[in-house]
Parts: sequence; structure tokens; C-alpha cells
Amino acid sequence: MRSATGSAKVKHRGNATGPCPDPERAYPVLGSLIRYLGSLKSRADLGVLSKMLGGLRVTRADIEPACVFGVRGYRRNVIASSEWFELLALCWRSGHCTPIHDHRGVSCAFRVVEGVGTEIRFAPTDSGLICPTASVRMEPGYVCAAQDADIHQVANMQSPGTDLVTLHIYSPRIRKMNTYAFVTSEGAEGCDSYKRPLSRGVIRAAATRRPRAIRR
Ligand SMILES: [Fe+2]
Repeated sequence: MRSATGSAKVKHRGNATGPCPDPERAYPVLGSLIRYLGSLKSRADLGVLSKMLGGLRVTRADIEPACVFGVRGYRRNVIASSEWFELLALCWRSGHCTPIHDHRGVSCAFRVVEGVGTEIRFAPTDSGLICPTASVRMEPGYVCAAQDADIHQVANMQSPGTDLVTLHIYSPRIRKMNTYAFVTSEGAEGCDSYKRPLSRGVIRAAATRRPRAIRR
């Protein structure tokens, strides 16, 4: 379906603060980005998305209507979308994090708008387990890019009361992704010297792919 400007029709999503009938008007700082995304007729190139986000000057105040936080976890607030993209503000309280996930069939780029995020990257090993390879501190303005087999986890590891806001583009929209979970070990056979696992969030073992893809 075509709009009057010749671009692919862009769906306008609301959020907890009410509907957003015209995202270009509601978020003028995102106007050129939304027009570009609305013109997509196939998956966007990750380098192009990264460059566009890198050149953006956007503050939390610029996207305040989309800055809605969740209670149990980070919240995805859709600003605009079509068949070929989704533009969202993600809002994270301290301690909120994504599952460990890959990006099969999707170009994903995001910019840190406010706060400091943490990205933990993983790589597959011959064992079938995945292994952490890097931890990246993401300051405001940092652009993170991932696609296809790239595996990572994103988190707000700042102190309680310190928010993280990020602006994400997915192309095409994510429908399903593979997620990964840390596996725990009770220790070696014939050995009972290990204590029981400690508190939530303590990484105790390498991670492995879950047997099914789940919807985000
Ligand atoms: Fe991701």
C-alpha cells in the first residue's frame, strides 16, 4: 500500500500515553529517519541503519511520549512500523535485560539515548555451548549493530534509579528469534562439594541455545 508521498504505508503505533496518529509530527527529530524507513521495500542494510542512527541528535525529551517503562522488565514502545521495519524506544530500569538472543534474518541497530547500557557478546563453540567474548560499555550516542548470527545480551547495569533509554530499528520486524540460557552444573559426577547455586543473576556456566525459538 502506498502513501501520498510515494512511500510504503507506515503504521502509527500508540503507547501508554495515547495514540500517535502521525509519528513524523509527534517526533520531528525522527522525521527523516521515519521517511527513509517508510520507503523500504526490502530488508535494510545494517551499515545504512547504523550510519543514520550515528548522525541522529536525539534526546529523551525528543521522544518522551514513547518513553514508557515496564514493571517486570524492559519495555518496547513502538513509534512506527511497516512490513519492513519497526522503530521503537526501549526503556530499561536498573537491572532490566534482554534474553541472550541472535538476530536471524534481521538487521538490528540501536542508539543509546540516555544512560549507559551494557552489551555482552557471545560466540558459538564446537561444544554447542556459546561463550562470552566481550562486554561493551555503551555511553550516550553509542550505536550498536547486530544481524543474523550475532548473539548478544543488552542490559541496564547502572545503579537503581538510573534509567536507560535506547532507540531501536529492526528490519524487517522481529517475529521470532533464537534465545539462549545459561546452563547450570551440579558439579562433577561423584563429587558433592559444590554448594547450591547462589542468587539470581550470578553467571555460573556457559550458555546454550534453547530448543525452541520464542517470540519477543
Ligand atoms: Fe539484539
